[in-house]
Amino acid sequence: MHTPNVHQQPVIHRRSDAWFHDPDMYGFVRRAFAKSMGYDDQDLARPIIGIAQTQSDLNNCNNNFLELAEHVKRGVWQAGGTPLEFPTISLGELFMKPTTMLYRNLMAMDTEEMIRAHPLDGVVLLGNCDKTVPAQMMGAASANVPALILTGGPHLSGRFRGQSLGACSDCRRFWAEYRAGSLSEEELCEVEDGINRSDGHCTVMGTASTMAGIAEALGWALPHTAAIPAPDARRLRLAEAAGRQSVAMVQSAIKPGDFLTPRAFENAIHLIMALGGSTNAVIHLTAVAGRRGIPLPLDLFDRISRETPYITNLQPSGQFHMEQLHEAGGVPAVLKELARGGLLHLDERTVSGQTLGESLERVLPLGADGSSGTGWCGAERIIFPLDQPLAADGGIVVLRGNLAPLGAVVKQTAVTPHLRKHRGKALVFTSTSDLAARVDDPALEVSPETVLVLQNAGPKGAPGMPEAGSLPIPKKLLAAGVRDMLRISDARMSGTAFGAVVLHVAPEAAVGGPLGLVQTGDWIDVDLDARRLHLEVADDELARRRAAWQPPASLRQARGYTRLYVDHVLQADEGADFDFLTGGD
Ligand code: FES
Repeated sequence: MHTPNVHQQPVIHRRSDAWFHDPDMYGFVRRAFAKSMGYDDQDLARPIIGIAQTQSDLNNCNNNFLELAEHVKRGVWQAGGTPLEFPTISLGELFMKPTTMLYRNLMAMDTEEMIRAHPLDGVVLLGNCDKTVPAQMMGAASANVPALILTGGPHLSGRFRGQSLGACSDCRRFWAEYRAGSLSEEELCEVEDGINRSDGHCTVMGTASTMAGIAEALGWALPHTAAIPAPDARRLRLAEAAGRQSVAMVQSAIKPGDFLTPRAFENAIHLIMALGGSTNAVIHLTAVAGRRGIPLPLDLFDRISRETPYITNLQPSGQFHMEQLHEAGGVPAVLKELARGGLLHLDERTVSGQTLGESLERVLPLGADGSSGTGWCGAERIIFPLDQPLAADGGIVVLRGNLAPLGAVVKQTAVTPHLRKHRGKALVFTSTSDLAARVDDPALEVSPETVLVLQNAGPKGAPGMPEAGSLPIPKKLLAAGVRDMLRISDARMSGTAFGAVVLHVAPEAAVGGPLGLVQTGDWIDVDLDARRLHLEVADDELARRRAAWQPPASLRQARGYTRLYVDHVLQADEGADFDFLTGGD
């Protein structure tokens, strides 16, 4: 039925009013076209909540999103809003080539522009797989419309002959055993059948888990968003609560710019360190902060790493999975312990309208044993007290030296102890294709002490900064029992990977960084405790090599998005965002 008093209101008090209550002809036409979809004047007079839908048959991690969106809609209707679902690009880590990182900024632009261009008073962002959540964070931070993050949750732990498996840390472990000849074809097939047995993102503390945890620490997601498993009905009820909360955010005008403060980002970095989170989170968080004009220098990550013990026993640095973390109290229990140690800024705002401190008041402190309190899953301790940590420092450290003047990162909790301080001769691969062609050559001159160096795999060099940094151990060393070696590159590494891997070397080789000057046989010295990454080559010899250096062909992209990417992507220490997308409103 037509109710003239609704659309004749001249006052514009919500963003969507500029579309549906525009007194000009287009207000009339927009209402008419919305009515063709069954929405009436009452629907269009309510807060309009967009649901950014990234379900895709090409993204297994986001496969539960059609159902999740229905529950968000329920919550929006319950709270007096009108939900409108819209699609954006979806980036499925396993099915995209050459790398999803090439497209993170494209998805961020898609998300931002879809929000800006449409009659949305608020938005619920449905993301899950590695790049989808950071891309949505970046886009929503720039659009600065009330926005709430709802991730799809981790998948269930895998199963193989009585073992509980974590994808994809155990994918790598079993593949290495298969290459070494210690796992049969039949056993590998059995692992393949059981390692990922439900919807959801990788269940170890990889990039997706880390970014979901960060969303909670930033106050951008409701408590427990990160760890409730994807197939668990508690996530459906969380989705309804997220729908209701998105309407409340519109009513109280809480925008990302209100809670994305420098102190909130410090809270997020403390959480990364306590979780043993992914090195990719350093790049993503820097890019998100950059969208609000907030610099996050690498030295800030290193300072907070020195202040924050690693306390969460999750793969790949530890043993357990997100499923167990949820039973142990989830991210709120980790934040509660960090708060107990005075490591968080508790007066930061959250999407709930409460401060972070208020939202943690009802969280139980860590229990002393397996029968009481949080921190435990059955008889297994998942979250450790700050004064009995798994490691005294945080999970990630920042290295500097003549090989990385702008810094490099290492997930120190995943490094084999004897490689924390190492000096060895470089074996250089000039690209990912050179690596693939030679690494398993039986004639390769390599020993366990060799330092494997990969060049031209950074933001511009690859292009797209693929997760090529955990270079495979040469097959002949694997067969001899070697499982870790020192590896250095300007690439990234999957958050699910492990080993003595120095990443994100900046400036990258492709723009003339010193990494591009390394030659096979050079000595390299790495010391995690001293935060040192040093190439033992004299300055005059480096100057001679620099004079002869030529940029790689990857910098000359002929057309399309890849050309835009190479022309505008920033270095890893700046978040690898586009230079024209940083800055606040
Ligand atoms: Fe999507 Fe691992 S493949 S999070």
